[in-house]
Amino acid sequence: MTAPTGSENTVLCALVKSDLQSAAQLHSRCFADGWSSETLKKSFDIVGTLGIGACQCWEGERCEGRTGQRTLSGLAIVRAIGDQADLLTICVDPDYRGKGIGRRLLAASEEAAHRLGAAIIFLEVAENNERATCLYRQAGYIIAGRRLNYYTDPTYGATAVVMKKTLAGKDTE
Ligand SMILES: CC(C)(COP(=O)(O)OP(=O)(O)OC[C@H]1O[C@@H](n2cnc3c(N)ncnc32)[C@H](O)[C@@H]1OP(=O)(O)O)[C@@H](O)C(=O)NCCC(=O)NCCS
Repeated sequence: MTAPTGSENTVLCALVKSDLQSAAQLHSRCFADGWSSETLKKSFDIVGTLGIGACQCWEGERCEGRTGQRTLSGLAIVRAIGDQADLLTICVDPDYRGKGIGRRLLAASEEAAHRLGAAIIFLEVAENNERATCLYRQAGYIIAGRRLNYYTDPTYGATAVVMKKTLAGKDTE
């Protein structure tokens, strides 16, 4: 990345192949069991899967369409199959949290899922993940169920809460 010369902006961009390494590094900073670039690549190989990155760009720089490694402060991956979508993962670099990036990534994931034909989106969140649960509730998600003994990683409580949100303009019945 070129040396910063101006003010920094966060721009949402579609994740591309050249982002895989940065995405894996970011994911590992955010989760104890972060995904490798290979795992990320495999998830993108499944039809209906889209990645959105929060790219840190400097004034005058074109972030979208740039080749090579970009600096990612956050990412979200969403998969839409038929009229249902799943938010597979969402995370923001600890240094960039609390600036509204998570909210923007979530909204962009919902828009992407909607564009792909989904009428409803689901996600799973550890019961004790207060930050993420707060983000989802504020965005209009409601609890759809609970999965006991879902997580094996000791960082998280074992129980996953399944949350769902109806996407605007779509019929979920
Ligand atoms: C969850 C996460 C993505 C939020 O990203 P973020 O960029 O910090 O979130 P935002 O700044 O957009 O904040 C959006 C909302 O999240 C909630 N939130 C953010 N920081 C919070 C905190 N410290 N405590 C409680 N809620 C918090 C609030 O509801 C906030 O809305 P508000 O600012 O109007 O109060 C981020 O904390 C993260 O990456 N966590 C680790 C990975 C993770 O747990 N991912 C979710 C797995 S299901």
